Amino acid sequence: MKNTHLINHPLVQHKLTIMRDKNTGTKQFRELSKELSQLLGYEAMRHLTNSYMEIDTPLTKMSAPTLSGKKLALIPILRAGLVMSDAIADFVPHAKIGHIGLYRDPETHLPVEYYSKFPTELDLCEVFVLDPMLATGGSAIAALSILKEHGAKNIKFVCFLAAPEGISKLHEAHPDVDIYTAAIDERLNENSYIVPGLGDAGDRIFGTK
Ligand code: PRP
Ligand code: URA
Repeated sequence: MKNTHLINHPLVQHKLTIMRDKNTGTKQFRELSKELSQLLGYEAMRHLTNSYMEIDTPLTKMSAPTLSGKKLALIPILRAGLVMSDAIADFVPHAKIGHIGLYRDPETHLPVEYYSKFPTELDLCEVFVLDPMLATGGSAIAALSILKEHGAKNIKFVCFLAAPEGISKLHEAHPDVDIYTAAIDERLNENSYIVPGLGDAGDRIFGTK
C-alpha cells in the first residue's frame, strides 16, 4: 500500500510473534514492546539527514556525521503509546515528547480526547506519532488532526500492527502521513479488534486485565 512501510526484518517479525502469543506475560510483553519500538523508530528515522562537525578521535582530526535538520518530536497516543516514546527517547534523548490522550469508547469504538500537551514550534519538528495499534484508524486520524491544528506539518505514524481498514482510512484522511508498521493483519472483528492481532495493547503492556 502506498505510503505504508512494512518493516519485515526477521528480528522484528520474531519479536512480534512472541508478543502475539497469548501466553506471553506482561513483563516480557513490555520488554518486547520497547525493543520493537526502537527497531521501528530506527526505520521511521531513516530519512533524517547528517551534517558534519570537526572532532578529534584519539588518533586524528576528522569531519564526522551528526544528526542535522529539524527537531524531533515524539507524540505517544495514551496510553499504549507511552511504552514506544520511552523506548525511542532512549536513542534520541534530544527529542521533545508531547502527549495525546485518547481512548476508544467501548460502545461506539470512536476516539474520545481527554488530554493533549505538545512541544512548542511543532511546525519546525519532524513529528513521530506513536501507537501500537492502528485498528479502525479513528484514534490515529483524530490524533493527526489535533496535531495539524497545532501546526505539525511533517508527520509519520509508527505502530506495531495495522488493519487494512485502518490503513485505508488513515491514508484517506491524511494522505501526507507515512505509516511504519511491523505487520498488516487480516481484518477487524465485530468489536473492532485486529485479527489475528495481539489483543488489547494497553492491557497487555500495563497488565490491567
Ligand atoms: C487502543 C490503541 C489505539 C486504539 C486503536 O487504545 O492503543 O489508541 O485503541 O484503535 P482505533 O484505530 O480503532 O482507534 P484504547 O482506546 O484501547 O486505549 P488505551 O491505550 O488507553 O488502552
Ligand atoms: N486496540 C487494541 O489495543 N487492540 C486492537 O486489536 C484494536 C484496538
